[in-house]
Amino acid sequence: MNHRFSDKKPVIVIQNLYKAFGNNKVLDGFNMELYDGETLVIMGKSGSGKSVMIKCLIGLETHDDGQITIMDKNLDTMDEATLNEIRTEVGFLFQGSALYDSMSVRENLEFPLRRHVKKFGEINDATPLVMEALDSVGLGHTIELMPEELSGGMKRRIALARTLILKPKIILYDEPTTGLDPITSKEIVILMKSIQEKYKTSSIVITHDVDCARFIADRMILLVDGINYAEGTFEELDNSSDPKVKAFFKS
Ligand SMILES: Nc1ncnc2c1ncn2[C@@H]1O[C@H](COP(=O)(O)OP(=O)(O)OP(=O)(O)O)[C@@H](O)[C@H]1O
Ligand SMILES: [Mg+2]
Repeated sequence: MNHRFSDKKPVIVIQNLYKAFGNNKVLDGFNMELYDGETLVIMGKSGSGKSVMIKCLIGLETHDDGQITIMDKNLDTMDEATLNEIRTEVGFLFQGSALYDSMSVRENLEFPLRRHVKKFGEINDATPLVMEALDSVGLGHTIELMPEELSGGMKRRIALARTLILKPKIILYDEPTTGLDPITSKEIVILMKSIQEKYKTSSIVITHDVDCARFIADRMILLVDGINYAEGTFEELDNSSDPKVKAFFKS
């Protein structure tokens, strides 16, 4: 096991998480810790509950049982104000990462700033913050463009900039490279790594992209049958003799 981060403080702890939709038991006692500064990759086959787990984590889905602690605060007992505060610290890149089509790039990035006035105060001119976020994804020149004028890879970068503008301590990526060609995927993954290094964020990356996992993971968890079936570094899991683990790497 990789203990490089285990002496660090966990910023997220999930204990015995259960979530079912009717008879469909999706999460069946899932456990996870995210340590300060690490990038944790979660893999699991389609429909295994990765997105559901992330949604429980940010309160978009309610869990049936178990405990979620984010930065030492229990999600279940959190009041609305604390939940909002936590939401500015936890950036979330949705699967598909939709931008608002009717808004320009500038307006898309200003949107979260206006929603979280408490963290930033009233901002008269958001341009410097918008430009800083756009520059960090290499797209400063697109500030006045509309989403329809952008390629798929550019949209994904802008969505990332929109997450970064809140200066989150934790970033959750749900399939950041899905639907992109291999070269663009690689660019996004390199960008994610440089963001992690620049801002010292802790990240959870959900992906089925083995190359992405190899490049970015400090540690990995495989979600199988509703539980954290296997954990370790990429190399440890890649060398596993367990057929359920091997299936992820040799397919
Ligand atoms: N709101 C919902 N109502 C009912 N069932 C749901 C709901 N959301 C998810 N599910 C079910 O939960 C299971 C897990 O879905 P989830 O979206 O978490 O899968 P995933 O691991 O993210 O898959 P993918 O890799 O395809 O994104 C699926 O069987 C799905 O049908
Ligand atoms: Mg998903």
